[in-house]
Amino acid sequence: MRIDILTLFPNMFSGPFDESIVKRAIDNNIVSIVLHNLRDWGLGKHKTVDDYPFGGGSGMVMKPEPLFEAVEVIKARGSDSSAPVILLTPQGRVFNQKIAAEFANFGRLIFICGHYEGVDERVRKHLATDEISIGDYVLTGGELAVMVVIDAVVRHLPGVLGSEESASDESHTKGLLEYPQYTRPQTYQGWEVPQVLISGNHAQIAKWRREQSILRTFMRRPDLFDKANLSPEERESVANRAVTRFD
Ligand code: 6GU
Repeated sequence: MRIDILTLFPNMFSGPFDESIVKRAIDNNIVSIVLHNLRDWGLGKHKTVDDYPFGGGSGMVMKPEPLFEAVEVIKARGSDSSAPVILLTPQGRVFNQKIAAEFANFGRLIFICGHYEGVDERVRKHLATDEISIGDYVLTGGELAVMVVIDAVVRHLPGVLGSEESASDESHTKGLLEYPQYTRPQTYQGWEVPQVLISGNHAQIAKWRREQSILRTFMRRPDLFDKANLSPEERESVANRAVTRFD
């Protein structure tokens, strides 16, 4: 996969892609991430990229010309000029694990980081093919958001996670939160690991984990619980066991 990022702040990206799993994916040529400084397409002597909003109001708006020209050049540089052009803004559809998996199917993604009070509406309408937000709060720009999106997408690319750490058994993949995990020591400050996990009984362990996932989802995320794919018995049993939130 090739990922192009169009941003006014390319320096913000040193760090998140230089460590851990994303770094390994880059080193293994599973993904390449190419940063482009929008300022390079700025207008005039001052390389202007923003301007006052028509109709008045506070803040600045990102001008259309630098964005349209930049995306045209960036598209022509790589293969697959049909790649989606994804604008990061608080007004986009809210990112989730399903969208991450969908994005992972593309050979190429082009991201535009919005800034200031927003981007000229013609960018939304005629340049971007998708708009993504990472949640209901406002960031100073799309940069942190695109790092979040890329991290979640790269984990889905074949060969990035080993079979041991597969993406199929974790929170959100099955619409449920993950079950509690424990490691050694078996007793820490008097707190014991649940007996079932050291029983060696794999059927019992799987059953316990499923119950815990369901219970935890019910307690913490009633919105996910309502949508989850559960048997009538599973749905019934949880109502009798739930006590307090965040136990
Ligand atoms: Cl994608 N951009 C900004 N500026 N704020 C956000 C966001 C994006 N997602 C949530 N808040």
